[in-house]
This record gives sequence, structure tokens and C-alpha cells, in this order.
Amino acid sequence: MSSALIRLGVLISGSGSNLQAIIDRCEVGELPAKVVVVISNKGDAYGLKRAERHNIPGIFLPRKEFPDERSYNNAILSNLKEHGVDLVVMAGYMRLLGKEVLNAYPNRVLNLHPALLPSFPGAHGIKDALDYGVKVTGVTVHFANEVFDEGPIILQEAVPILEDDTEEMLAERIHAVEHVLYPRAIKLYCGGRLQIEGRRTRIKEG
Ligand code: GRF
Repeated sequence: MSSALIRLGVLISGSGSNLQAIIDRCEVGELPAKVVVVISNKGDAYGLKRAERHNIPGIFLPRKEFPDERSYNNAILSNLKEHGVDLVVMAGYMRLLGKEVLNAYPNRVLNLHPALLPSFPGAHGIKDALDYGVKVTGVTVHFANEVFDEGPIILQEAVPILEDDTEEMLAERIHAVEHVLYPRAIKLYCGGRLQIEGRRTRIKEG
């Protein structure tokens, strides 16, 4: 008997190319998971269209319709609960997720960052690395906590910065790595292979 699929709730703010990579891996059976809801804080996020194309409920939650962060995060939480979400996946969600959600999903919220944390946290990780002049940047997948880009790291992969790189060229190579690394981290989670010990995430033998 095959075990039940892990139910993913994906939070987005934009294009959703990582959402797409995850949906595709689920659909071909490479990931023992299913995206059951997509939540966006932006109404024009292209990721909502991607969700629609795959018959996945897409929910637009505008922050301005809620009086404070707490009620906004509680609205996110009730949508996640309503869809029976097991694992929350932030894929280009450009807001800090509140403790209402983090406490309800302890060690069950993942985030993706387009740099090698703890270098270049924040909203402009690709540009910041390029402007700084580092020769190597990369991609990080980590557990989320209440501080931006800070929780225990699950996987990282380096991406070299080339002599004539523009931000667009570098972003393209970073995104290509993200589309492989994020599904790989989700697969490790689904297989029960991640064990947090302090700041370290141990990857158990498969
Ligand atoms: C990715 O680069 C991710 O690392 C960052 O936001 C971007 C989202 O891209 N947090 P997309 O919406 O998945 O295309």
C-alpha cells in the first residue's frame, strides 16, 4: 500500500516559477506530495494563474483588508487548515510569516532564498551578492522561523558569479538551481529524513 501524499500549502507573492517546479514534480510522482492550496498576498501574482491551470485552489489575501498582522496571519492559517495542509512552503512569499502560522506548524514551514545564507539575506539577495563582488553565491532552502531568512538550513548549492554577469543572467542560473533544490528538500521532508538539532539540520540516510 502506498503511503498518503503530503499536502503542501504554497505561499507566493509573484511569478511562482518555484511553485511550478513543485507542481510538476508532484504531478510526475517524483515528489510524494500534492499542492492543495496556493495563497498569495498579491492579486496579480502569476503564480495564482499557474495554480488555476492545475485546478489548485488559489487564494488572494490582501494585507490591507486586515486590521493587523495577527489577523492577517490567522486568515492564512485558517486557509491552510481548511485545506488540510501538512507542510507550508514559502516560494517567493515576500512577507514575514507570523507566529500564528509558525506555532501551528512547528518545523513544518520551509523557505527558499536566492543566496548562500547567512550572506545576503533580505529581498534582494541576487543583486546584493553581485554588487558586493563575491565570486560565489547560490541557493538556500531552510526551515522558517520568526526572523527573515534565519532558520536551520536544509540544503545549499553554490552558483559561481561569472565575469560578465548581469543581474538577469545570474538570476536565471540561480532560478534553475532553485527549481531542482527546493523539490529535493521537500522530498527529504516528505521522506521523514530531516532532523533539526539546534541550528543544524541532519539529513538521515534514506
Ligand atoms: C526566488 O528567487 C526565491 O528564492 C525568492 O523569490 C523568488 C521567487 O521566484 N524568495 P518565483 O516566484 O518562484 O518565480
